[in-house]
Amino acid sequence: MLRTHTCGQLRKSDVGSPVTLCGWVENKRDHGGAVFIDLRDRYGLTQVVVGPPEANAELIDAAGHVPNESVVLIRGKVADRLEGKVNAKLATGEIEVRSEHFEILSAAQTPPFTPGQSDLPGEDLRLKYRYLDLRRKEMQDALIRRSEIIKCMRDYFAEHDFIDVETPILGRSTPEGARDYLVPSRVHPGNFYALPQSPQLYKQILMVAGFDRYVQVAKCFRDEDLRADRQPEFTQLDLEMSFIDADDIMGLIDGLVAKTAKQVLGKDITLPLPRMTYEEAMRRFGSDAPDLRFGLEIVDVTSVAAKTEFRVFRGTADAGNFVRGIRVPGAATLYSRRQIDELTAYVQQDFGAKGLAWFRVEDDQTLWSPIAKNFDPEHLAEIREMLGGEPGDLLMFLADTWEVTCKGLSGLRKRLATEMKLYSPGDLNCSWVTEFPMFERDEESGRYVAMHHPFTAPLAEDLPHLVDSPEKCRAQAYDLVINGSEAGGGTIRIHDSKVQSQVFELLGMDEETAKDRFGFLLDALRFGAPPHGGIALGVDRWVMLFAGLDNIREVIAFPKTQKATDLMTQAPGEVDSAQLNELQLRTVSVKT
Ligand code: AMO
Ligand code: AMP
Repeated sequence: MLRTHTCGQLRKSDVGSPVTLCGWVENKRDHGGAVFIDLRDRYGLTQVVVGPPEANAELIDAAGHVPNESVVLIRGKVADRLEGKVNAKLATGEIEVRSEHFEILSAAQTPPFTPGQSDLPGEDLRLKYRYLDLRRKEMQDALIRRSEIIKCMRDYFAEHDFIDVETPILGRSTPEGARDYLVPSRVHPGNFYALPQSPQLYKQILMVAGFDRYVQVAKCFRDEDLRADRQPEFTQLDLEMSFIDADDIMGLIDGLVAKTAKQVLGKDITLPLPRMTYEEAMRRFGSDAPDLRFGLEIVDVTSVAAKTEFRVFRGTADAGNFVRGIRVPGAATLYSRRQIDELTAYVQQDFGAKGLAWFRVEDDQTLWSPIAKNFDPEHLAEIREMLGGEPGDLLMFLADTWEVTCKGLSGLRKRLATEMKLYSPGDLNCSWVTEFPMFERDEESGRYVAMHHPFTAPLAEDLPHLVDSPEKCRAQAYDLVINGSEAGGGTIRIHDSKVQSQVFELLGMDEETAKDRFGFLLDALRFGAPPHGGIALGVDRWVMLFAGLDNIREVIAFPKTQKATDLMTQAPGEVDSAQLNELQLRTVSVKT
């Protein structure tokens, strides 16, 4: 080893010891003929003094000219800091190293930014010079936390007899609902591999093979529109089990959530984690990943709306749509008319709502609003009562289709809770949403599409609906929700090839297509398939949520931008014509 200690290791008890340190020059100060250097590595900072009597003039001069962020080696003795110079904030703050030998291992050019600077540079610059960005303590902490969380997961599943099996990256398309990344085959011109959207089919096949308990930290690839919590390539903690039901999977993951929270955050989580059905989640929170760190529950007032004279409410109720709202405690004085106009524009632009109806609860409990004159006082009293409105509250309503009221009110809940600080940054709220619908209608084609994926088993009691009314069919599906974010999702699978074929058919896949794409799975299900199911946890999201961050790129060493590019390596890039020729490919522009 070049070094005897790290830059975070030396203490008062080491005073007098000869040591060798290596690290980066975070900064340096010239003080009356001696140079003070803050030497940094991932373990911490140590103050190094290059000055008389240990160092000669030449050495002092060299230290004074070393550029920041250079890598240096220092040999010397640990000494007490002078009185009054102790830095209580630093673990090594009681000592310094008095340098006898000083060597530049690699001189740095002036960097575009330094890890120690207080103002964070723009994200593009951070991503382009990611190696500099990764020197920052926040990034190092995030990646260390990531490593801890993955270790915690691996340990947990090893303790529960899971076997880690790797599955291919070059394979056939797996339908998780996103676009595939394709890789052309040189050996079979015109044919393509698809990068896995998840190891879904392989893990099911492993169950047929008798592996019983499979786990893998798996890379997944999805060409979809990116958001703050989505990357085109991301990591799942993927698992599958045989001879279990949905309760078993949720119970197992409950244990992991508690273990991770304890180990990483020192937090105790009460088990079992609360569960609610999809129907309840949409009804009470308008979202299948409800943020339960705060209230602002949705209340349906359609029955009263139908009785009122207010054209918008009445018309909506008459058309079979919904009037639903939330009570925002104490918001009447917090939100000005202008701010309410902004909220109105927000629900209109982002969720296609037609407007936002709102009322202030006055001291005498009457409701005040520019539209109040359209209502019977009796009906207003009824509405206030249904929402439990108290003086000083704001009541906000959307009159629209079920979908728009869900999306709009869910958006409002999130926005208001953030603006009003209805939760604290350290809160961790975990819960399950279960019994998702099996199918939803594709807006464009009107066809059924699988809400999770086509291998999901229906609830046994809903099996008959598969034939008469598929939209009523609920799935044996469960999503883990942490702070309003989908942190994992899984299902019990179909293990009967006949039911599987039936589902493919419902999804508009004829027998031939099903055979062509998933023949191997249908075959496998005919050779003795155990009942099985599993789940995949979004590792990047777990780390983001457990670290209290709101951007997934902060927990990935080399992430892609919102435009799916890697600014450091400049991927994706063009390839030379020889490579294309080998693949028998030519690029042409196609108008879309
Ligand atoms: P699903 O598609 O729900 O299920 O994915 C599981 C979890 O992976 C995370 N996730 C993502 N994280 C970052 N970027 C993305 N683009 C992204 N997409 C998904 C989410 C999500 O809950 N094969 C099934 C699992 C199963 O049925 O066992 C699957 O992939 O946290
Ligand atoms: P209007 O009669 O369209 O001027 O609307 C009167 C008030 O009702 C305005 O504050 C609108 O924002 C609100 N409003 C209009 N349409 C809706 C709707 N569909 N849901 C909730 N509020 C609405």
